[in-house]
Amino acid sequence: MEEITALAKRRGFIFQSSEIYGGIGGFFDYGPLGAILKRNVKDAWWREMVERRDDVVAFDSSIIMHPRTWEASGHVAAFHDKLVDCRNCKHRFRADHLPSLDKCPDCGMSGTLTEPRNFNLMMRTAIGPMEDTSSQAYLRPETAQGIFVNFKNIYQSARKKPPFGIAQIGKSFRNEITPGNFTYRVREFEQAELEFFVPQDGNDLGWFEQWVAARKQWYSDYGVRPDRLRFYELTPEERPFYAKAGIDVEYLFPWGWGELESIAHRGTYDLDRHIEYSGKDLQFFDEATKAKYTPILIESSAGMDRTTLTMLVDAYERETVADGEKQSERTVLRFHPKIAPVQAGVFPLARNKPDLVERARTIEAHLRTRFRTQYDEGNVGQLYRRQDEIGTPFCIMVDYETLGDATVTVRDRDSMRQDRVAEDALSTYLAERL
Ligand code: GAP
Repeated sequence: MEEITALAKRRGFIFQSSEIYGGIGGFFDYGPLGAILKRNVKDAWWREMVERRDDVVAFDSSIIMHPRTWEASGHVAAFHDKLVDCRNCKHRFRADHLPSLDKCPDCGMSGTLTEPRNFNLMMRTAIGPMEDTSSQAYLRPETAQGIFVNFKNIYQSARKKPPFGIAQIGKSFRNEITPGNFTYRVREFEQAELEFFVPQDGNDLGWFEQWVAARKQWYSDYGVRPDRLRFYELTPEERPFYAKAGIDVEYLFPWGWGELESIAHRGTYDLDRHIEYSGKDLQFFDEATKAKYTPILIESSAGMDRTTLTMLVDAYERETVADGEKQSERTVLRFHPKIAPVQAGVFPLARNKPDLVERARTIEAHLRTRFRTQYDEGNVGQLYRRQDEIGTPFCIMVDYETLGDATVTVRDRDSMRQDRVAEDALSTYLAERL
């Protein structure tokens, strides 16, 4: 994990937030390559969950909502972790992360930990010029509630009837007691949530199974190693009382299994609560049957920062390769071509030869209209090493032969095989492989 964190900083994937001021716990910034990687991950989710379906509509709600929302959702009363303080070193811990409550894991003193107490994870803010209780609001701890409170607006304006879904990707905030493991547990993160509403016709568990299968397919399509992915079925004791089924999608990180996504059958709980607290009718009225009912909800909620981290960790490899007569080490990120920040690097064999530089720049500019490309120049070995480290699937070298016969060398990141390809066939060559 240390190697990956160092690489993420060196190559511009992820930086600590406000690093020049010493950083701030639980917040991170995405660098030039990380921003593209995360966008590609979100786009991959959006394409599959919204664009390729005719039964899911898009949504984008505000981060700050009416405070009653969070009373209705249960977050004010119950969205907390158990907090423990050390009276000696003043450090704070999540009780369920400690091996024992007898001894402080930081200062080692016995008998200094307080009794666990509830700590609400919602971040508070104040709205408007007055800072009193009437101005208090929360930064949303999940995007889902924006969908629930708008259920009627959405189904009526989009003219949808169950089964149909509403999807959104957006920032969420949780005042985690102990953020950690790089971007795995942070205080500001993005969620991609699908709320899928189904009729009360007895097929709700069938829909749950369909969504579990769809999400399995998604991880598989983007190349996540199957031996590091598992779908853990929650027991009735682990599920909320209103949930009929629940699955956590987990990835085997270097520190152990960690949750990436939760898929849940949430019954009618969320809409029922908002009906009760708002006094508004959020039931679905079926024009065909003239019947009114509360649809059952199947939810898929994935963390985009965790998924991006998964892609980085999953892609990371150090290997020994033959380098002529010698053996050498290389670090390579084997990103799926659809999410790789750069899909093709283009270089001239020598940076001090204007003919080669101009030709390489022309080729790169042309490919840029179709692919994510990067022009670079310098020592050939270092160019390849740099592109391997940022996970670029193909590198294109413009050399002296190019000037004569209009062909280039294309090197494959994974096999390191080199093909000679005609310049005017490059676009097709890349499209077929990316
Ligand atoms: N609406 C359901 C919901 O929010 P959740 O299991 O609390 O469910 C869903 O969160 C996903 O959001 C998690 O599986 C995880 O990927 C992401 N997530 C939650 N807390 C996070 C945190 N502190 N840092 C990064 N991602 C987080």
